[in-house]
Order: sequence, then structure tokens, then C-alpha cells
Amino acid sequence: MTAVAPDPLSLALGMPKAELHLHIEGSLEPELAFALARRNGVTLPYADEAALKAAYAFDSLQSFLDLYYACASVLVTRADFRDLTVAYLGRAAADGVIHAEIFFDPQTHTARGVPFATVLDGLEDGLAEGAARWGVSGRLIMCFLRHLPEEECFAALAEAEPFIDRIHAFGLDSSERGHPPSQFARLFARCRALGKPVVAHAGEEGPPAYISEALDLLGARRIDHGVRAVEDAAVLARLARDGVPLTVCPLSNTRLCVFRTMAEHSLPQLLAAGAKVTLNSDDPAYFGGYLGANIRAVQAAFGFDAATWYRLARNSFEAAFAPDDAKAGWIGRLDAYFAAAGVPVGR
Ligand code: HPA
Ligand code: ZN
Repeated sequence: MTAVAPDPLSLALGMPKAELHLHIEGSLEPELAFALARRNGVTLPYADEAALKAAYAFDSLQSFLDLYYACASVLVTRADFRDLTVAYLGRAAADGVIHAEIFFDPQTHTARGVPFATVLDGLEDGLAEGAARWGVSGRLIMCFLRHLPEEECFAALAEAEPFIDRIHAFGLDSSERGHPPSQFARLFARCRALGKPVVAHAGEEGPPAYISEALDLLGARRIDHGVRAVEDAAVLARLARDGVPLTVCPLSNTRLCVFRTMAEHSLPQLLAAGAKVTLNSDDPAYFGGYLGANIRAVQAAFGFDAATWYRLARNSFEAAFAPDDAKAGWIGRLDAYFAAAGVPVGR
């Protein structure tokens, strides 16, 4: 009797993968938000979890960010950042994530008087627990808030420099429109001079020109989102030619109305053009779910075959900021998973 090959969705949900675009503050579930609010004596501007969840109806990136920053006010102690990270890693591991490169926004916390070291210590406690409990490797990417002036971001970098060995890379997030990458060229030059890879959100709500700026002026090694690249054939061709990884977040893009429906998402066009696409969850507590939920939504809209899912997972490992031997090990696990499922995958 020949075994029946699993369907592409089951394969995709179970396959080992990396997550490269996840804001840890965006993994704050309403239940944990209210628990931390009680623990810290912080008042949220919502009566209860149901009222908070009811506010998750966004019409733009900014409408989301306003709520996201308000909820982050419950994160105060080292234990809070640890609990948040452990909760994320448990959910990610259940979705097959074996490596996570996690964004954090220190300016959101230091502006409220939470010391940088408290944030970093707590996140690292969580990473250590995630590694011990689920074998997930985790790294931290410090993001600068682009709605703030570059001088304030330089001050945040100065605060981070004593801890530089504990920061894996730097990124740029928050309100994209009106805050082009060009405003942060000097800041990112300094990050690169510190020996760190840099990434930037670009082409989420902003135009394809912001993607070019992120590459040319910031030296970005990956583009976060980049989904509007399809509006400029030259930008899209360049991304494909140079193998620039895109950390695409499908549920985020539909929840923030970058695309009206998943069927209208540019993901198939990006893949058809040969872009190095990875799938990620961005702010899973706010956008309807973790990586598994993103995979389900994509599969419901596009019905990808096993080879496409293999490519997406392989891209996630190739795009990671990790030593070559670690990447080869992860890709070996991916190949073994598909071989054990009886699904041949071409390179
Ligand atoms: N875009 C920009 N900034 C963010 C996001 C996002 O999707 N999530 C958290 N900060
Ligand atoms: Zn993001």
C-alpha cells in the first residue's frame, strides 16, 4: 500500500520554519494585557478584554499603532517582558517555528521610564526559557520609531550601545507615510559601523521608492513588508535579481487595509517575479493570529502547492541573520521533513 502524501496545508503548518518579522509588543494578547495591567496598577483605556478586542478594527497602520502603543504601557517589569516573550515562543513553536528574529521597540518603554536594561533582560529571560522548553532559537532586533526625530533615535542607540553584544540587528518601524528611510541614513550608517545587519519596514503603506531608499540609503539587508514593490517593475526586478528577502505579513496587510482582501494581496505576484519572500505574523495578537493562521489564510486564498511552501520555508532560513552552519542545519531539517512526508522537493 502506498502512503498518501499529506496535503500542502498540513505540510506547511508542520514544516520547520523561521519567523523574521514579529514585533514582540504585537504579541501581547488581551488576556495578558489585562493581567499585567492588574499586576502593575496600570489602567488600560478599555473596560475589559472584550472591549479591547472590539477595538481591533483598523483602517490604517496609524489606527493600529495608536492602540498598540497604548497597550504597551502595561509592560513595566523584567518579568513582564519575560512572560510576553515566553507566551510568543510557545505559540510560535506550536506553528513549527524553530528560529525567531524578534523586533522590540525600546523607545516605547524608555519614554515611560522603563530602563533599557529591564526590557533587554526580560526579553532575554524569555528567549532562554523558549530555548529550554521548545528548542526555539531567538534573536533580538532593536527597532527605531520612525515617527520620532533622528536625534531621538540616536539617543536610543547611545542607550543601547553598552548592550551591543546582545542586539543582533537593527530595524525601522512605526508610521511609514511621511517618514522616508532617507531621514535615518546617518543613524543606520552608525548601526552598520557597529557591525550589525540592518532591516527596514518599507513598501507597506509607503511607495516603492521607500524600498529603494531603504536599500540604497540605509543598507537594508531585508525589507520588512515590501508588498507595494509590485507597483514599480524596476523595484520588483531589482529585489528579485539581488535576492533581497521580503518579510511579508499577509494577515497584517489585510487587517490594516493595505489590500482589501487576501485574494488581492500581491504575494503571488512577488513569488512569480522571483522575489525571495518569507511569511511572518507581524503583530499576531492584533491581526488575527500567528504564523499558522497566516498560512491558513494564504492557503485558503491561493492554494499553493508543496513546492511553494517548501520554498517559503527555505527562504525563511536563507534570509535569517545566522551563521551558515546553523542555516544548513535548519535546511537539513526542512529537507528531512519533506522527505519523511514522501514529498520530493527540487532545489
Ligand atoms: N508597521 C510598522 N510599524 C509597526 C508595525 C507594522 O506593521 N507593527 C508594529 N510596528
Ligand atoms: Zn512590522
